[in-house]
Amino acid sequence: MTSVSATHARVLSGMRPTGRLHLGHYHGVLKNWLALQHEYECFFFVADWHALTTHYDNPTQIPESIREMVIDWLAAGINPGSATLFVQSRVPEHAELHLLLSMITPLGWLERVPSYKDQQERLKEKDLATYGFLGYPLLQSADILIYKAGQVPVGEDQVAHVELTREIARRFNHIYGRELGFEEKAEEAKRKMGKKNAKLFDQLKRAYQEQGDGEALAVARALLEGQANLTVADRERLFGFLEGGGRVILPEPTPLLTKASKMPGLDGQKMSKSYGNTIALRDEPTDVEKALRTMPTDPARVRRTDPGDPEKCPVWQFHLVYSNEEVREWVQQGCRTAGIGCLDCKRPIIDAVLAELAPMRERVREYTAQPELVRNVLNDGCERARAVARETMEEVRHAMSLVML
Ligand code: TRP
Ligand code: SF4
Repeated sequence: MTSVSATHARVLSGMRPTGRLHLGHYHGVLKNWLALQHEYECFFFVADWHALTTHYDNPTQIPESIREMVIDWLAAGINPGSATLFVQSRVPEHAELHLLLSMITPLGWLERVPSYKDQQERLKEKDLATYGFLGYPLLQSADILIYKAGQVPVGEDQVAHVELTREIARRFNHIYGRELGFEEKAEEAKRKMGKKNAKLFDQLKRAYQEQGDGEALAVARALLEGQANLTVADRERLFGFLEGGGRVILPEPTPLLTKASKMPGLDGQKMSKSYGNTIALRDEPTDVEKALRTMPTDPARVRRTDPGDPEKCPVWQFHLVYSNEEVREWVQQGCRTAGIGCLDCKRPIIDAVLAELAPMRERVREYTAQPELVRNVLNDGCERARAVARETMEEVRHAMSLVML
């Protein structure tokens, strides 16, 4: 029952509301979103309930953090005309799906999610022995499944959560996809494709189920994709039938691993607010320039005449992000021979960062000056998201017999 994911080109990803974003977010996550938004139907959301799972004791900053983060998304070029931007808590259907999924989720599955023990260890000062914190990966599963997302761009640390989501989907489909009279309904759906296609479907199904022929499976899936006269429900029945299972109600997503950002912080460690080594997307040019001018270099270059080693210098990491081959060559040569000074070396970086940030800062200014613009984007996005979420919940409720007699 793994198949439908390939057919759902929908992309979904979320970020906790961290407030103003920095270059690490831009190069690590947002540039990836920018590319995806032109290729797929994208849903990007602010995971504010997720923030509450760890910051339940101090939520007052969350609304402002949401606002600033969404402004930075927009400033970075996320286009609300192509992507749907919304806030999790404004689509309460996520909570309903979370609740319903909790009925079929074994405790052990949650307890063995690696981030569960890790985070509790790491955030010792917080009491994370809560029901909400344990359930947070399941809430993430609900976030994903409610949009039937096929691809979920996430960092390394989140891959286990997408894996859990796949297991939950499989379990859900296994339990609830076996509707009364499934086989009869699938046979009936098959006949709707016409005699020839129905026969071909049977052959491919047999080749797959009896000989494990993966090629046949792929061809059969393509055949189903191509059937314009099948309803969504019939198609999903046939997908399940093909693989010997029930109907696929919640398709399994695949993680789209976001490569770790090469963007270092000003001190050469990973750029992160908690290390105080960031350049925020909306920092003033004078502050950006100052931060870069004063950032540390190879400690061996005490005097201008001391040669240095770019491999030991955080500035070199910036050149790897921003500079072309020619400039890099100039750095390697100039640094190792003390032919250039560190300020000379930083100049192209300063110019590149300033040029990258200038249009973003301008857009931040525009959005900040017109709060109703951001409000409209989110209102609109929440409504679009909700329409999809409602539709899924109709199917889920039905599958779980939450119906009026
Ligand atoms: N848990 C993610 C994080 O901490 C954010 C998130 C919540 C998310 N729901 C999601 C990401 C669904 C992808 C898909 O970064
Ligand atoms: Fe770093 Fe450039 Fe100075 Fe070499 S010249 S130490 S690479 S800043």
